[in-house]
Amino acid sequence: MALPIAVLISGRGSNMLALERATRDGRIDGRIAAVISDRADAAGLEAARGLGLAVTVVAPAPGESREAHGQRLADAVVASGAGLVALAGYMRILDGGFVRAFEGRLLNIHPALLPAYRGLHTHRRVLEAGEPSHGCTVHFVVEELDAGPAVIQGRLAVRPGEDEASLSARVQRLEHTIYPRAVGWFAAGRLECRDGSAWIDGRPAGPAIVEEET
Ligand code: GRF
Repeated sequence: MALPIAVLISGRGSNMLALERATRDGRIDGRIAAVISDRADAAGLEAARGLGLAVTVVAPAPGESREAHGQRLADAVVASGAGLVALAGYMRILDGGFVRAFEGRLLNIHPALLPAYRGLHTHRRVLEAGEPSHGCTVHFVVEELDAGPAVIQGRLAVRPGEDEASLSARVQRLEHTIYPRAVGWFAAGRLECRDGSAWIDGRPAGPAIVEEET
């Protein structure tokens, strides 16, 4: 049966759209049950509405605690009936209660080859450090930021003289390949988080590596 998926966004939503496409063309045996945003002005919401997806805004109220907001977010996910939560450019640190409630059913896409370059501005930091390679990682979410077990990584070689815009665009193309793949595995019952590691088909995920096609 198609897995109901809640996708959490704060911005453009290109990964959300990549996941939605993959549900339609059969790469993911699932359906987007809800697109939830902490920002009413997230550009991805218009695109989601245009596709007829159910959209919910759970914006933090002035003075609201992280815990209270996390509880309302969890309520929205539960109301959608989702069996998987996919963070796709959700730019707010999640409350621990939320993470624990959906442990093992909560994935994120991060624009770096974790465990290197946790946090923000990864493309700029990678260029400043003169790294030869870069990419993106789908991982299960744990309470520590960007520290959960990696499932799959997309990898590319940084080009000499490359700027941040070019690197970011190349990484995003890889994100749109690896995120649907990981969600497809989860929906097929092939991916799980057990004993603090990601497992694919009963074997440690590794993580799986996808090289950029050149
Ligand atoms: C992506 O680069 C993702 O890695 C990061 O936020 C960005 C979201 O982009 N977590 P989009 O909103 O999916 O286009």
